[in-house]
Amino acid sequence: MAGMLFSLAACGTKTEGAENETEQGNILIAYFTWADNTVVEDEEAAIQSALSHYESVGDTADYSGVDATSSASVLPPGNTAQIAEWIQQRVGGDLFSIVAAEPYPSDYDACMDRASDEKAENARPELAEHVDNMDDYDVVFLGFPNWWYTAPMAVFSFIEEYDFSGKTVIPFCAHGTGGIAAGVRDITEALPDSAEVLEPIGIYRGDMDTAQAEIDNWIDSLGIELPAAQNTEETEMEDSRKIRLVLDEGEMIVELYENSASDDLLERLPMTIGFEDYNGTEKISYLDSELDLSNAPGECTPQAGDLTYYAPWGNLAFFYQDFRNSPQLIPLGRIETGGEYLENLDSYTEVTIERCAD
Ligand SMILES: Cc1cc2nc3c(=O)[nH]c(=O)nc-3n(C[C@H](O)[C@H](O)[C@H](O)COP(=O)(O)O)c2cc1C
Repeated sequence: MAGMLFSLAACGTKTEGAENETEQGNILIAYFTWADNTVVEDEEAAIQSALSHYESVGDTADYSGVDATSSASVLPPGNTAQIAEWIQQRVGGDLFSIVAAEPYPSDYDACMDRASDEKAENARPELAEHVDNMDDYDVVFLGFPNWWYTAPMAVFSFIEEYDFSGKTVIPFCAHGTGGIAAGVRDITEALPDSAEVLEPIGIYRGDMDTAQAEIDNWIDSLGIELPAAQNTEETEMEDSRKIRLVLDEGEMIVELYENSASDDLLERLPMTIGFEDYNGTEKISYLDSELDLSNAPGECTPQAGDLTYYAPWGNLAFFYQDFRNSPQLIPLGRIETGGEYLENLDSYTEVTIERCAD
């Protein structure tokens, strides 16, 4: 049954996080990821080329779950894009994917060769898209994979295209066994002296499954402040997207993400539903009718505390264990407080869910 529920399709779905967004905001999260910079014709071959390479460099992490959907980086979202999405979930802001005009090969070794040549030439690949309103951003999270001990040369094209004077730049790096290496140093050197570079984070690809909490802690430790206007707006917005599960022991507060499925769920509140345990990983409840999926991510990698919607079965699913990347599992939100009640949720045949803002 679990295999049916989470069977992995042989295709990846581009997440919301990998799309460029243009709405104005104070924080920009710009990132380069291989998956947005390649065209994959033969998925299995591309993935296999990555896994073979990992093996050849002695990367002993367990990639046994890596297949056509979890992608070994070559299919969306890509590790750096996934980190960017987690950052956005924590701080808001706008996402921008740095894309070179000429796509890179989807074969790992061929991509390595081109990246190596570009590094040797200190090339500045032309970029396909541009940030029109860079002046609006004071804080720029800048994400990149370690490519040959530094950032892909396209990241330097990006840096040199804009005036970063006076901006706060926060680097983040997805890497293999080589760590962040010289990436942050090289980026810092490429930025003007008046740009302030904050403490970076590096995430090893073998740790991606469990990295979201580490990202959250890192962001909190940075002490970045949102401007007052944005703070107020965001607080109001956040409150309007919070929901409450009323339980005998207390209440569970869940913050919903911004997508059409979460919006649809909000519209249906208040509602009273019962929960059951599924698979020792989640507490589920079937809805009467489908949620609106017209503008929602098509997959996610659930972690304990996530509220999701499994589209094929039409059920809400609160995960109390981490689980693998699953197509058609739509992220709806995340438990903010009261997570301790989660494991007991199936003891309720009736739980009222209501909006916090009401
Ligand atoms: C062309 C290329 C060069 C790479 N060079 C390095 C390296 O020198 N050191 C390292 O630790 N990882 C290296 N990697 C691995 C990536 O940094 C790592 O898999 C990362 O998680 C990929 O992030 P992405 O999915 O956002 O592209 C390289 C990957 C590619 C494709």
